[in-house]
Amino acid sequence: MSQPVIYSGMQPSSESLHLGNYVGALTNWLKLQDEADAIFCVVNQHAITSKFEPEQLRERTLGTAAQYIAAGIDPAKSILYVQSDVPAHAQLAWILGTMTGFGEAGRMTQFKDKSQRFGADATTVGLFTYPVLMAADILLFQTEQVPVGEDQRQHIELTRDLAERFNSRYGDTFVVPEGYIPPSSAKIYDLQDPTAKMSKSAATDAGLLSILDAPKVTQKKIMRAVTDADGEIRYDKDAKPGVSNLLTIYSVLSGRSIADIEAEYSGRGYGDLKKGLAEVVEGTFAPIRERTAELLDDRTELTRLLRDGADRANERAEATLKLVHERIGF
Ligand code: ADP
Ligand code: NA
Repeated sequence: MSQPVIYSGMQPSSESLHLGNYVGALTNWLKLQDEADAIFCVVNQHAITSKFEPEQLRERTLGTAAQYIAAGIDPAKSILYVQSDVPAHAQLAWILGTMTGFGEAGRMTQFKDKSQRFGADATTVGLFTYPVLMAADILLFQTEQVPVGEDQRQHIELTRDLAERFNSRYGDTFVVPEGYIPPSSAKIYDLQDPTAKMSKSAATDAGLLSILDAPKVTQKKIMRAVTDADGEIRYDKDAKPGVSNLLTIYSVLSGRSIADIEAEYSGRGYGDLKKGLAEVVEGTFAPIRERTAELLDDRTELTRLLRDGADRANERAEATLKLVHERIGF
């Protein structure tokens, strides 16, 4: 039986991935690359819908790819490539855009949120048609499953609608993909505001654990994490969100159960838990950080790996685009 086609994209919108990305996305992708025909794309064409600097974008694109490989994404098991290396994305997006209602695109809540934040001057047509490009990304590879967070649900629905619309107008062409929320994905919260999810867009980075931070910085952030006055190391998400978040991180990264960790630290202070956690986090981050630096040190090899990914992606994307062109009379 052939493996299901799974597609996932990430924007090269920061220098370093954070712990939330690692736990919520990467660890799942590592499993998927063995169980699925997995395609991972650094979506730099999406990234230019927000403010960006060309040189920084180039660095972040390579840096994002390097961190994925460093964390264990194996370019031999899956396809890893950069979106702008595959022209079919933009070509299919144009065609799908002509089949998307203006009102339909206008209902996307992410567009409404972002356009409000960006203001009139920075709200571009590209930001508006972002979900159409995302539909093209997915449909080009005849994707069956798209691992997504809750915030992307609406875009997956649009993708499905577009696939069905195309199929019914022009004949069976696209696989209609399903969104799926990976089963065992823990949510990681901000260390300073443990009721908000850890995010690169947080107001300050004091509560954000970045993979590429220096060990001292990571340690300091963990030692300063917000806890509570009750002093007991016990998991209680509602009453003790700070301590619970630390326990979740500890558990996910060490593979130990929360009960086991509670037992180890029973009767001890938050300082001890934080020290132990800092070691666990460093144990996870250090090898990724070191491997990322090595990969970025050898640009020729990294570029070659991505070029090879793009060749394989192009072959599959071109086959779909050719069929689409035939169907619509190009
Ligand atoms: P950010 O919120 O920092 O902008 P993204 O939206 O770029 O992160 O998310 C990229 C991936 O990382 C998504 O798959 C998302 O589900 C996952 N992710 C991001 N933040 C967290 C978090 N705090 N906990 C768990 N998963 C997360
Ligand atoms: Na695979």
